[in-house]
Amino acid sequence: MSFLAQRLGRIKPSPTNMLTGRVAELKAEGRDIIGLGAGEPDFDTPDNIKQAAVEAIARGETRYTPIAGTMALRKAISAKFERENGLDYTPDQITVACGGKQVIYNALVATLDEGDEVIIPTPYWVSYPDMVMLAGGEPVFVEAAEDNGFKITGEQLEAAITPKTKWLLFNSPSNPTGGGYSRDDLRDLTDVLVRHDHVWTLSDDIYEHVIYDDFRFHSIAEVEPRLLDRTLTLNGVSKAYCMTGWRLGYGAGPIELIEAMNVVQSQSSTHTSSISQAAAIEALDGPQDFIAEHNRVFKERRDLVVSMLNQATGIACRTPEGAFYVYPSCAGVIGKTTPDGQAIATDADFATHLLDAEGVAVVPGVAFGLSPFFRISYATATAALEEACRRIQRACAGLS
Ligand SMILES: Cc1ncc(COP(=O)(O)O)c(C=O)c1O
Repeated sequence: MSFLAQRLGRIKPSPTNMLTGRVAELKAEGRDIIGLGAGEPDFDTPDNIKQAAVEAIARGETRYTPIAGTMALRKAISAKFERENGLDYTPDQITVACGGKQVIYNALVATLDEGDEVIIPTPYWVSYPDMVMLAGGEPVFVEAAEDNGFKITGEQLEAAITPKTKWLLFNSPSNPTGGGYSRDDLRDLTDVLVRHDHVWTLSDDIYEHVIYDDFRFHSIAEVEPRLLDRTLTLNGVSKAYCMTGWRLGYGAGPIELIEAMNVVQSQSSTHTSSISQAAAIEALDGPQDFIAEHNRVFKERRDLVVSMLNQATGIACRTPEGAFYVYPSCAGVIGKTTPDGQAIATDADFATHLLDAEGVAVVPGVAFGLSPFFRISYATATAALEEACRRIQRACAGLS
């Protein structure tokens, strides 16, 4: 009998975090590796935000804060929701945690009983199913087809709902596809959700600001205000403000849910760092112009990667609306053989071949629940991306 809890048997470590670790190891061994696995901007945190943290330390803001986060931060978040999303949340409807990841975890632990179902569109962010299972729930997968822009439809959602459904875990723009739902796409889903009042929605808006061309971002409760009292709106400073290491995310929803999440947090991490909280106020209230500048660079990289991947034999890549990922199909290389005689039977085989033969680290679609695809994060220096795509083209050309 293992000493470890049985519920851990179904849980695996985050494959993307593992890949980042593996890339670091290979680099330390002296191999020339281009890592396209990490889900974080390569830009540094803006100076004004860093400065706000330094000032908070100097002011002595180095002690415990309220569990849900400081009142000053929750007021800044409340103002952000009103300004950017037209959503009216009071500070007591807001909770701050160690990243959006912990907000989701707190919500699931606070609400799921054994066997409760959570609908998750595939491909999904790697942590969703495992967090659901850790909290005792059952993930129910709905395929977001590539030919529908990696979006699920209202009809598919309707078919997945059962009396046991508790949540829809919803993410747009999406990690891993970059696919974004338009207002009409969202309306298709919210029209279904309004009819099932036992189903709550977790609207993961973490990539809200990372969007391109004429795509407009909308949050679920903004599109359908009747869902406000059963929606948890999730966001954070990791992606838009280049603050992944500061560990700060936030959620807003009905008071009963937020209070329950605060209870969970009070018995685990207590709260995120007081310094990060001070920095997040500056992120939300301070100048926002660097976001457009970052998006301009991301968009150039997106266009470069999409175009170069579409020139690789056997790869087909759609142009995503947001985030900093592409999710190309590698269906055209499945069934081929590598120059040293290895069969490429799955996207995992293809990713292994790219790493072994060309030193390019990508995450296979199997990690996100939809094959045969792979994910590339283009939040990496443009020259490295270009070289990586050249190597992928070469690897594909060498298959027979
Ligand atoms: C879809 C999605 N949601 C939430 C998060 C959580 O980010 P953080 O915990 O850094 O706020 C991530 C991070 O990769 C993500 O991709």
